[in-house]
Amino acid sequence: MISSLVRYVFLLFLFFSTTKSQITDVKNVFNVMSYGAVADGKTDISKAISNAWNQACQSIGGGVVLIPKGSYFVNPVELKGPCKGKMVFSLRGDLKAPIYDQSWGDADHWISFQYIDNFMMNGGGSLDGQGPSAWPYNTCARDPNCKKLPVSLRLDFVTNARISYIRLINSKNFHMNIFSCRDINLDHMQITAPGNSPNTDGIHIAETTGLRVWDSVISTGDDCLSFGPGTKNVDISRVRCGPGHGISIGSLGKNPNEKDVEGFLVKDSTFIGTQNGVRIKTWALPNALNVYNITFQGISMHNVENPIIIDQEYCPSGNCNPQGSSQVQISNVKFMNIWGTSSSKVAVVLKCSESKPCREIELQDIDLSYQGKDGPAVSQCNNVKGVSYGQEQPPSCI
Ligand SMILES: *[C@@H]1O[C@H](CO)[C@@H](O)[C@H](O)[C@H]1NC(C)=O
Repeated sequence: MISSLVRYVFLLFLFFSTTKSQITDVKNVFNVMSYGAVADGKTDISKAISNAWNQACQSIGGGVVLIPKGSYFVNPVELKGPCKGKMVFSLRGDLKAPIYDQSWGDADHWISFQYIDNFMMNGGGSLDGQGPSAWPYNTCARDPNCKKLPVSLRLDFVTNARISYIRLINSKNFHMNIFSCRDINLDHMQITAPGNSPNTDGIHIAETTGLRVWDSVISTGDDCLSFGPGTKNVDISRVRCGPGHGISIGSLGKNPNEKDVEGFLVKDSTFIGTQNGVRIKTWALPNALNVYNITFQGISMHNVENPIIIDQEYCPSGNCNPQGSSQVQISNVKFMNIWGTSSSKVAVVLKCSESKPCREIELQDIDLSYQGKDGPAVSQCNNVKGVSYGQEQPPSCI
């Protein structure tokens, strides 16, 4: 009792001492209000933000770009390094994106951070992407060459970053896109868009080594988290997804020369009313790469259509190479301690490639029930090698 109290007080002390030092070890504060920002929700403050950023970035030791509480209108903006020290983007206010229309132009982002080492973004503020104005322009479901709508928050070539206590609302496209980064930490993020909004993925990550996401809530119309080629060392915990399409590794194997995906631990997370729970998805195309060392552990499912799914027959527009079963080799994937309810009868789907069967797949302690009239939950396997142990509900097909 006493020792746990002591430990608690000590942790509290650690927490406050680290947050304080994170602020005080960066001395210079660049308040956007000093650069002409107006908190009226109408005046564009993108120039004020980029001027404050550039000054902070060129200061020895870096700086804090501060957006105080209030409502602001912001046009697309790119904030770039390299900088002369640690950069903090302290977002206390609420930013609103422009409405989308035919005149949008080519910007694939709303707010973009590039080439920054040692970066923090926090402050309890929000980014409202004004998605409803853009969603009617999304033709990607019927046109593979569709114009891509802008992502709300992009990180490209950013290393050693922590983004926390930020809310993202109604992005036009993905809420966050992380590309070619290293050691990115995201926590206490809240991402919200309607369940029927198109391509509003929570966070998409590719070509990145070292990603941690914890204590976050993601409700969208598409994937909660999705991982593209070249993603390594990923640690996800205490994330709540739903509505949306769940956590997805892939789609992979769409293009030649994609890099391997490996080293995932997804744990202690919850899926509520999602289309998928935990998923690995590859195109039925002849592009080779490897997906391995993936663990999903301690996951609760509530009314999820496909709680556990590997799908190597992905071919949405139907023009995959007819001989080409997927050439993505999936191995060493563990599904451990996964429980709750499935909204479809086939609660476990492991559809692997005929020419590259999945290897070392483990199902351990699975307890998924289905309440429909057509009988209890079942599992379906194609081309799977592996083992199952512990409780198996539905009965394992491995
Ligand atoms: C497998 O992935 C986990 C999670 O990222 C990592 O901690 C572990 O070191 C990896 N194992 C191997 C053998 O690479």
